[in-house]
Parts: sequence; C-alpha cells; structure tokens
Amino acid sequence: MDIQEEKQAALAAIAAAASTEALDQVRVRYLGRSGSLTAFFKQVGSLPKAERAAFGQMVNAVKAEVEAALESRKEQLAASELEQSIAGGVVDVTLPGRRRTVGTEHLISQITDEIVSIFRGLGYTTMEGREVETDYYNFEALNTPPDHPARGMQDTFYLVDNSGAAAKVSGESDVLLRTQTSGTQIHAMEKQRPPIYMLAPGRVYRRDVADPSHLPQFTQVEGLVVDKGITFGDLKGTLDYFCKQMFGADRETRFRPHYFPFTEPSAEVDVSCGICHGTGVVQEGPNEAKPCRFCKGTGWLEILGCGMVDPNVYSFVEVDPELYSGFAFGLGVERIACLKHNVQDLRMLLTGDMRFLRQF
Ligand code: DAH
Repeated sequence: MDIQEEKQAALAAIAAAASTEALDQVRVRYLGRSGSLTAFFKQVGSLPKAERAAFGQMVNAVKAEVEAALESRKEQLAASELEQSIAGGVVDVTLPGRRRTVGTEHLISQITDEIVSIFRGLGYTTMEGREVETDYYNFEALNTPPDHPARGMQDTFYLVDNSGAAAKVSGESDVLLRTQTSGTQIHAMEKQRPPIYMLAPGRVYRRDVADPSHLPQFTQVEGLVVDKGITFGDLKGTLDYFCKQMFGADRETRFRPHYFPFTEPSAEVDVSCGICHGTGVVQEGPNEAKPCRFCKGTGWLEILGCGMVDPNVYSFVEVDPELYSGFAFGLGVERIACLKHNVQDLRMLLTGDMRFLRQF
C-alpha cells in the first residue's frame, strides 16, 4: 500500500464528509488505533536502519497534513451545522425564557421576625422553648390549678407518657403539646437570675376546630421581664410602643382587664380595627352603613394577653417577690399578621394559595 495514495484517499474522504459525525468516522478509518495511516508507523521498526529516519519523518508529515485537513473541515462543518439548526428553528432565541419562581419567607415567619426585632431593639434576648412539654411547665408552675378549664381535655393534646410517671390529673398524661408559650417563662427563670428581658417565639397547639379566628396549631411570642422596680406602667409603655411600631402610629390601643392564672393583675390588649378605622361600621353604599364584620362591629381587635407576674409563679422558681417584680405577655402571631394586612380569616395563612401568599 502506497502512503501517498492513502493520503490522497484520506484527504478526499475528509473533503467529502458531510457532517461532523461522518468526519469523525473518517478520522478513525485513517488515524485511529488501527487506521490505515497509523499502520505505516508500525512499519518503521522493520526497515533497514538507514531508511528509518527518512521514512519516519515522511509518515509524520503525512499524519500532520491529514490532521490539519481534519481540523479545518471540522470547523467548517460545525459552523454550518450551527447555522442550519438556527435556521431550522430548533432554538427560537426570541421566545421568552422559563421563569423561575423565587421563594420568600412565609408571612408568619416575617411577622415573627418583625416582632422579635422590635423587642431586640429594647434589649430583649430570645429563647427557644419546647413544643412537647410537661404539665408542670405548661400549667402547674404557671399557677394553673388542676381544675382550671384550660387544662380540660377539650383544649389540650395529651401525649402518651412513656416515662411511667403517674398522671397528675386522672385520665390525663403528664406530657402534652404545649397550649401556650408561657411555659418558657418558667424555663427562663430556672436558668437565669433577674434581670430577665426575654422573648420566646414558637408553635402552640390546641384542640380547636379551625375557623376564621381559631387554628389548632398557631404561633405565639412570649415575653417576660423580671427586674427591680418593674411596674404596670412599664408594661403599658412597652406594649404601647410595640403596637405603634407594628401597626403604625395611627392605630389606637386599649388595655382591658382580664384574667390569666399566672398574672395579677391581667389585661388583654386590643388594637383599633384597620377595616372600619375603629368606628365599628363600614359604609356599603352612599346611604348604607353596616356593622364591620372584621371586628364584629366593636371597632377593636384583640391581639395579646399580658399582666404582672403573679407572686405564686415566683415561688416555683425561687425568685424573691419582695426584691423583684415583672410583667409577661403573649402575642398571637397569626392574628397580628391578619390584623396588619386586613386578612379576614386566619385559615388563609395556611392554605398555601400562592395568589394570596405572593402579596406579602
Ligand atoms: N398564654 C396566654 C394565652 O395563650 C397569653 C398570655 C397572657 C401570656 C398573659 C402571658 C400573659 O405571658 O402574661 O392565651
């Protein structure tokens, strides 16, 4: 076989290759491991010594020439294949791209963070409680006697107690899903001596059926202050400041006397309704006024419970009530989210409906 003839054949085949794929087959046929041009290299060793160098150089030169031809044909073919695919409309570069939706924090997390950051600004530290809690922290140490309605089966999810400990209340386990974040007050006072300025956000659970103003699982933020000389005035000032930061200076707040087992005196705080602006009525037509459904015509919406820490609670954690006083509060995050954005049904927050959630 003549090497020059083989080279001519290779160059012709390269010129004739109609696609990059066909070209690659040509490369293999001539320059592959068992290609016909490669075979000439194997002959070098069997030649008389004097001829080897010249023959070797010649074969190398042929190989280089064929490789150069392959390379330039490859570029040609690649360019024309790209042109063809564009012309053939395989890629329409004018079509809009696929939009990726960007995730955001859920409104409940946003509001929780907002609450935490308002109180951080006042020097509060945050603490995490536990969602599976014992009767002691959820009720007993919070001065909630066994016959208190809040302990009844209708409110609390009780868990199976594997510790073998006897139930405190007959028929009820000692372990439960916390119904309130207030138990973190006890954990905080056990861990730390006053002064305490503590905030504890977290989930709570109740045996309630979901309706526009109740959820069986929701989020609370607990607050606790214990220091020397703390008064009800400090409580009012703190929570009033919080409400103004949260809802805007134009929203009014009011304190209503209330009862909680672990605070004395206790109060609930309302914020003026953002739908009817505290009037209790909405104008439906030029001559028709109807009671506001959001606040049930009262002009006010309840957002938190609070009070001065009951001295009985201090006795569980060995804080001296002669030396220290304090206040506590518990905020409902979902409620605050709905009040702030005038959402009329708490359940909206949990439906996962993107058309609703995207607004926030
Ligand atoms: N734990 C109460 C509830 O879930 C809210 C509450 C009221 C918390 C008064 C407090 C408080 O810390 O002082 O309804």
